[in-house]
Amino acid sequence: MSKQLHENIVLYDKKFAPFIPYSEIKERVAALANRMRKEYEGNNNLVFLVVLNGAFMFAAELLGELDVNGVVSFIKLSSYRGNSTTGVVDDVLGLDCNIEGRTVVIIEDIVDTGITMQHLLDSLKKKHPARVDIATMFFKPESFRGNYEVKFVAMELPKEFIVGFGLDYDGLGRNYKDIYKLVNERG
Ligand code: IMP
Ligand code: MG
Repeated sequence: MSKQLHENIVLYDKKFAPFIPYSEIKERVAALANRMRKEYEGNNNLVFLVVLNGAFMFAAELLGELDVNGVVSFIKLSSYRGNSTTGVVDDVLGLDCNIEGRTVVIIEDIVDTGITMQHLLDSLKKKHPARVDIATMFFKPESFRGNYEVKFVAMELPKEFIVGFGLDYDGLGRNYKDIYKLVNERG
């Protein structure tokens, strides 16, 4: 029997409490798919770029509802972290289709500060796509510091750390279909 949403989950040393049931996620994704269908219907030059690992559940749900023709491709971002304040340089791995002159739709699990997405946009631009749009399951408007448009958002979130529906805490939690949020334990 699957885990009931009223139960907390424990990942490593952290406790996570039920936050958003899959039923709501499903509704939000279906609503987003309706908006996106209107945008992309008739576009015969579409590439959906799914960002692994986090977006696997969102992509399956979204693309299953979308009903438009497009190539589906999967990429990974590798982060090379400097050992001090050099920050993060993300590299795109596994892009196996030509995006030149095409409409690219990035499918991401979450845009938080937007820095990761900025790196991805920068590296895709070098391959001369006609246009790049972003579709994300979650968006944290209070954290976002980017100056680009996040065109398609299934759901906005407050500044909470969440897991489930593809999102992880250090590799765990991705496989739960409901969303759980970190319980801040004080005192
Ligand atoms: P950024 O701040 O927009 O660059 O987000 C960087 C990455 O942090 C995302 O791609 C996620 O992998 C991760 N992330 C941000 N917020 C959360 C969260 O609430 N839960 C799990 N991962 C998150
Ligand atoms: Mg991610």
